[in-house]
Amino acid sequence: MKDHYYFDNASTSFPKAPGVAEAMAFYLTEVGGNMGRGDYAPAYDAAARALEVRDALCRRFGGPQDRNVLFTPGCTYSLNTVLKGLLRPGDRVAASVMEHNAVLRPLAQLERAGVEVVWLPCDGRGVLDLSRAEELLTPDLRLCVLTHASNVCGALQPVAQVGRLCRKRDILFCVDAAQSAGTVPLHMGELGIDALALPAHKGLLGPQGLGALLLTDALAGALEPLVSGGTGSQSDLTEMPPFLPDRFEAGTLNLPGIYGLGAALDWWEAQDGAALRRREQKLTGHLIARLREMEPDGLRVLGPLDPEEQVGVVSVDFPGLDNAEAAFRLEREFHIQCRCGLHCAPLAHKALGTFPQGTVRFSVGPFTPFEDIDYLQAAVCAVMGV
Ligand code: ALA
Repeated sequence: MKDHYYFDNASTSFPKAPGVAEAMAFYLTEVGGNMGRGDYAPAYDAAARALEVRDALCRRFGGPQDRNVLFTPGCTYSLNTVLKGLLRPGDRVAASVMEHNAVLRPLAQLERAGVEVVWLPCDGRGVLDLSRAEELLTPDLRLCVLTHASNVCGALQPVAQVGRLCRKRDILFCVDAAQSAGTVPLHMGELGIDALALPAHKGLLGPQGLGALLLTDALAGALEPLVSGGTGSQSDLTEMPPFLPDRFEAGTLNLPGIYGLGAALDWWEAQDGAALRRREQKLTGHLIARLREMEPDGLRVLGPLDPEEQVGVVSVDFPGLDNAEAAFRLEREFHIQCRCGLHCAPLAHKALGTFPQGTVRFSVGPFTPFEDIDYLQAAVCAVMGV
């Protein structure tokens, strides 16, 4: 038995890409200057590196220009920036029931302020019901927000089709790529996405405490900044500067994080991304198949159950056993690290029929060994007593 078997890459990826920790240490020990706030070489170096990282994100995700790539403290913050910066009392917004609390909770706050939320239903596999979406996405909506992949069951959502509908009906489109950025190709321009929110610390294999928000000029022009403060630019103004990215980047940026993300993006660029996605699909297919062997014993395996239609996230519901107890025993007896409960996505569990008990979620990453899946299956069998 190993010290640990990490099956919680949907919470945060581990290990990180080679070079991430070293790049963060390099910034802290060798660079040290604050971009835009110092007139000396290390401050310029930090600014130049931040620009390179923006540029790498812009290329990777098909953004308009590097100035349209904002650094934020995380994907949740990116989503709040869009939702609270855009929506006003009387506005209507559509969201799928698979959304995470990073979307549900800002929307609940906005509902109290007079914004109307239209919920887009999903089927029992956690996939958006496109024909209902077609009816519900009416031209009077200001925004549609959709997760690219469910953090509960991994289901990939039809972002291309929804993007087309939004374009036709002149609805702004925001995609939450919390669970897909890095592992599944995503091109803002091609998919008709106006705002793309992503974290550094999941599929991109970077550090926590950093995210990005890629915006079209049209959406950026309609947004009020969520937070205001110093930007190191146009300091004579008491208002936030009108230009990107400064308008939405108040305060000192997470430079150790940006250096770390830069190293992660460099690592990704040196890989064959399509081959890594194929490996993730094979791994996920193997995980699904092994878990489904216990279906006759009552284990419920949730989601599309097809690696072509999901990311490397699979949830199960144990029969006759509290899911929290199952997860506890998997860790205590088998050193398996996973996540149980509602995964901050209560409506997704209602759609999947696993509310309020939640599920035990296993999520793989590029460094998960195939043989660990067989070990996991044996452990799940032992916990079920079969
Ligand atoms: N939202 C992350 C998860 O699904 C943290 O675990």
